[in-house]
Amino acid sequence: MSLWDPRAVVATKRDGKALDAGEVAAFVEGYTRGEVTDALAAAFLMACLLRGLDPDETLALTRAMVASGDTVRFADLGAPTVDKHSTGGVSDGVTLVFAPIAAAMGLAVAKLSGRGLGHTGGTLDKLESIPGLRTDLSPQEIERQVADVGCAVAAQSPSLVPADGALYALRDATATVPSVPLIAASVMSKKLAVETDLILLDVKAGSGAFMKTPEEAAALARACLDLARGWDRRAVAAVTDMSQPLGDAVGNALEVAEAMTVLRGDVGGRLRELALAFAARAAGELLGLSPGEAAARAARAIDSGEALERFRRMVEAQGGDGRVVDDAWAILPRAKAIFPLTSDRDGVLASVDAERIGLASGALGAGRIRKGDAIDPAVGIVLHPKVGDRLEAGARVGEIHAGTEASAAGAAADVLAALTVTEGPVEPPPLVHGWLDGLD
Ligand code: URA
Repeated sequence: MSLWDPRAVVATKRDGKALDAGEVAAFVEGYTRGEVTDALAAAFLMACLLRGLDPDETLALTRAMVASGDTVRFADLGAPTVDKHSTGGVSDGVTLVFAPIAAAMGLAVAKLSGRGLGHTGGTLDKLESIPGLRTDLSPQEIERQVADVGCAVAAQSPSLVPADGALYALRDATATVPSVPLIAASVMSKKLAVETDLILLDVKAGSGAFMKTPEEAAALARACLDLARGWDRRAVAAVTDMSQPLGDAVGNALEVAEAMTVLRGDVGGRLRELALAFAARAAGELLGLSPGEAAARAARAIDSGEALERFRRMVEAQGGDGRVVDDAWAILPRAKAIFPLTSDRDGVLASVDAERIGLASGALGAGRIRKGDAIDPAVGIVLHPKVGDRLEAGARVGEIHAGTEASAAGAAADVLAALTVTEGPVEPPPLVHGWLDGLD
């Protein structure tokens, strides 16, 4: 019988004292092995959120999470490798668009993603709305797919960062998400477990992000970049706008369908622009292209149809139905009922409470309330106007995709309440607040 008592670790943090690396490692190992209960781990997470973790404790937590599984190392692929991660947002389908664009540009994209967290959506949940698609790839499957297709998006698994898989789901269920050290350790454990030449971080700021201001987001970006530097890994972060949903679609299948329209080149907008900005930055860093050349090559990956074909190959390699790129709604699950959403006011859209919209989508069934809950891949919200756009009372601004009329009515009321309308003209917020370099 072990004499080690994990309650002592929680008590130390509860009392605002620093934990040493051994204590953090033992706690994380114990939880991952199932020896520390969910109740105790939830208390640990809340103590970390309220008391904070210093850089040494954050490093220890990240190390323990990486050490809970294997790491992915690539043999020479003949292409530089890149990983990209968002700290979480609403209608944030950037990975779905970025990964195939970057692959089409000659980069090898290897990415461990997350599930929905709090009010934010998760790339894994979105991808799994494609019938048959698996995200539980083994390290060997990731390596093989990246070599064959140029991109793979996979989940934490019993062999890859299992500690993050377990803690992430518990944080989602216990209101312990918005903490700089917990987010930094979670994001970076997944990035450090896969050895790529470059890590790109999309650190979101605004009402739909966990960090509500660009300053808070910059602090999170620096915490992530410090961890990368400690590992001797090249990383670059952008603080980007999440003061409104990035795309128009909020919900799993809806966001996949929207990503297909972007990859087909059918629509412009902020989702396309941000995915292109990350792809161009990666190509600049790894292929030595000038910013102008990199931006042109990224746009060409869409215009030529190559990015769309990469997405098809990635989906098929992961067991999914690749015809999703030809006709998304012939393949993706559709909600039982689709209701039009109409504006209740005239005026100019001044701001959006994107968290409220994310929560409304979650309440329709797109997100989880309890750990392990099943989600409904088909439900969600479509909201077209962006800050600065004019609204007209009675005009259609989007749709609610729901299981029942009652749940749709609740979501519609929430979405309209999340919009602030004014009379005067409103400047749209910048898409990228700024870049931070891991070398700074
Ligand atoms: N993405 C992650 O992987 N972890 C977080 O905590 C937040 C966003």
